[in-house]
Amino acid sequence: MGKVWVVVGSQWGDEGKGKIIDILARDMDCIVRYQGGNNAGHTVIIDDQEFILHLIPSGVLHKGKQCVIGNGVVIDPEALFSEMEMLTKRGIDVDSNIKISYQSHIIFPYHKILDHVKEKYSGREKIGTTGRGIGPCYTDKIARCGIRAIDIVNEGVLYQKLKFNINEKNQVLQKIYNEPLLKFEEIFEKYLTYGRKIKKYLCDVTYLLSEAVANGKNILFEGAQGTFLDIDFGTYPFVTSSNSSAGGACTGSGIGPTKIDKVIGVAKAYTTRVGEGPFPTEFTEDMMAKVRSRGKEFGATTGRPRRCGWFDAVIVRYSALVNGLDSIAITKLDVLDTQENIRICTGYMYNGKVYEEYPSDIEILQNCQPLYEDHSGWQEDTTHITSYDELPLNARKYLRRLSELVKTPIAIITVGPERGQTIVSTGK
Ligand code: GDP
Ligand code: IMO
Ligand code: MG
Repeated sequence: MGKVWVVVGSQWGDEGKGKIIDILARDMDCIVRYQGGNNAGHTVIIDDQEFILHLIPSGVLHKGKQCVIGNGVVIDPEALFSEMEMLTKRGIDVDSNIKISYQSHIIFPYHKILDHVKEKYSGREKIGTTGRGIGPCYTDKIARCGIRAIDIVNEGVLYQKLKFNINEKNQVLQKIYNEPLLKFEEIFEKYLTYGRKIKKYLCDVTYLLSEAVANGKNILFEGAQGTFLDIDFGTYPFVTSSNSSAGGACTGSGIGPTKIDKVIGVAKAYTTRVGEGPFPTEFTEDMMAKVRSRGKEFGATTGRPRRCGWFDAVIVRYSALVNGLDSIAITKLDVLDTQENIRICTGYMYNGKVYEEYPSDIEILQNCQPLYEDHSGWQEDTTHITSYDELPLNARKYLRRLSELVKTPIAIITVGPERGQTIVSTGK
């Protein structure tokens, strides 16, 4: 039996999934993205080269790995081809390794326009999206008028579906948002060209994966975003429009749940979030500037400064339940190296009541007081450390406490962005 593992973000995204996937991909045959689109930005650093992957699974940087984009992903063809071109130019073989699901949905120009205008007119209610057209594309999928990868390789189907969509979107753009009308011919021709180009990569991913499982191959599912950006379990409505939690691996690829044998959650040793929405442990100004600068906390997709805060055990404990986490990877421990005092949020106080379980009520999340316990920092450089036992005592104490609070063993710890700056935990 091969390994079938899922890696998910346990906070609000950017936990360092790209690095963890790159490390685990060494022993895998096949790496599968199952949701999201080019809103994701997964960073992998190899020697002095930095790669930021948006759509293509982070396993692509290892030679000869099968990289798969599942039906749960939304694809902007322009972004896909430019990412493929960038990788090819840098000597990475994408062309012979990539497969894309027939059933993945395609992002059209009107999705991106709608994403922008909806945000513009939402004022204070805006989500702070990445502006990549993700929400409107998933909206069409659920409304049953989306256009899939298999549809753009069939001229007749594309014509009919696009005609319907452009007629409808033009009404909305003109009458609600006072925006210019879209030209059908232009978009139709462009997407026909994309269809011709994408065709050779398309396949039925369910059959591909079931054959891989039958042949004992090792498969790694790569989550994008994080559990608290999940459309069902996140801080709704300040979420993305897909299931970034582990369940999405099944519905977004066509593998049956009984085939998955391990789920690993990735969490930073502190917390970050990009965009709007509640963030109970968010730092005040001084700490924000310090951690943002030490952790280089700027979005890998949009370059926006990330909001930073203390580790929130309430959310990661919930993430362990939602995803059925077997273990957790704690990343960016080194960012806390200079801290004298480190706080962990163990619960929230709201209207005189203590919440140790995640309250899905946005009112509580926005207005609660986090309850903290304080830990002495280790104030030593950890970036060169390669084994758990070499970590300073206070760092081990901190990690042990995180593990205890989230009720999940720690399997991996990272102390820097490079491949070698990784500690496989003995779980002590
Ligand atoms: P992802 O979206 O979850 O893949 O994460 P991102 O790539 O958006 O953001 C994580 C950032 O942290 C990237 O710039 C990584 O290179 C960097 N990183 C990952 N692990 C570590 C670590 O242990 N220490 C430090 N200092 N940086 C890390
Ligand atoms: P990775 O995979 C962090 C956030 C956006 C916004 C919300 C909705 O790199 O962890 P969307 O464009 O998806 O409709 O935006 O979700 N967001 C992310 N934040 N990391 C990501 O991806 C994100 N993808 C989306 O900032 O708040
Ligand atoms: Mg990211």
